Amino acid sequence: LSETIPPPKCLLEPYVVPHRHLFGPGPSNVPPRILKAGAQPMLGHLHAETVEIMNHIKSGIQYAFQTQNNMTLAVSGPGHAAMECAIFNSVEPGESILIVVNGIWGERASEMAERIGARVNTVVAAPGGHVTNKEIEQALVKCKPVVLFLCHGESSTGVVHPVDGIGDLCHRHNCLFLVDSVASMAGAPLHMDKQEIDILYTGSQKVLNAPPGTAPISFSERACQKIFNRKTKPVSYFLDMSWLANYWGCDGKVRMYHHTGPVSGFFGLREALAILAETGLENSWKQHRDVAEYFHQGLEAMGLRLFVEDKKCRLPTVTTIVAPPGYDWKEITAYIMKTHQIEISGGLGPSAGMVLRVGLMGCNATKANVDMILAALRDALKHCHKSRV
Ligand code: GLV
Repeated sequence: LSETIPPPKCLLEPYVVPHRHLFGPGPSNVPPRILKAGAQPMLGHLHAETVEIMNHIKSGIQYAFQTQNNMTLAVSGPGHAAMECAIFNSVEPGESILIVVNGIWGERASEMAERIGARVNTVVAAPGGHVTNKEIEQALVKCKPVVLFLCHGESSTGVVHPVDGIGDLCHRHNCLFLVDSVASMAGAPLHMDKQEIDILYTGSQKVLNAPPGTAPISFSERACQKIFNRKTKPVSYFLDMSWLANYWGCDGKVRMYHHTGPVSGFFGLREALAILAETGLENSWKQHRDVAEYFHQGLEAMGLRLFVEDKKCRLPTVTTIVAPPGYDWKEITAYIMKTHQIEISGGLGPSAGMVLRVGLMGCNATKANVDMILAALRDALKHCHKSRV
């Protein structure tokens, strides 16, 4: 055989990736220390050193999540993989799930649960708002779900949803409490064990500042009772927790081959968790809160409005700004990208067209970066077209 399709010309030139300030909702910038960790030599995915690194990651996730759960690991994939892992393993076809929809992540969780034939019930908050524990309790009584899904850090609306008391309510109604903390983990206070969360997951690419592609997840003893006593196998082989528990040494058995983990991604994630351990979780929460408050004051001083009115529910990691009236938000984000090499983003799902979103996560959460963004926004509002409405 001879080739008839020539090598693509685009691959015969080197590609230089630009430096960009990633101040959108993620991924965030990866600091040199984590990039360097990811560039270490490849190892076999079950070599002793890789297993040791995986054990360090497990301890780091237990610290970040504030949990003693043995069933703690990182899924090979982005936050969506952990989201599907959580739902696919904890809910069986025909079972009832209750989903708090306070933005796009509740909508997505509903679609994932529908795809496995679950009976999906929702309790919906207005964009920028949240639901009360009373509303949740009423829905628990009515729908008798096996799982309640709640997104803690709703990156589409900029809301950090209150969590206190919901775990207890779930347990009184014989239901597992499943929390998405992709955009909030280590940026806003969350305590898996104290807040009685049964399943918690996040992504590597937000506050942790590691490259996308690994997703920490943890299951309580109560969750394990449910997921390991199913009548049916989970629909996904790749995300089946019986396999993942074995791959991560959580089942006490000899590790067997299931899939080839993202080894370089594990190096990066270990380093990211090491930085969090050195910084301290409470310091990280405080850093994000202080920087967000400084940012919010600066925005209001410029005459811009914050989308989330209730100050206590403003997500410290991702800020939603009401799209400046009279402007085309797309022109603003494009101008800031082109002129300042800064990524900020528009709305998503229920907030599409309504907001600008700015993410300041992990190493990006600094007052100097806030000053840079405020200057870029001021410049954009001066140079972008304003209609006469
Ligand atoms: C992704 O997480 C987003 O909020 O856009």
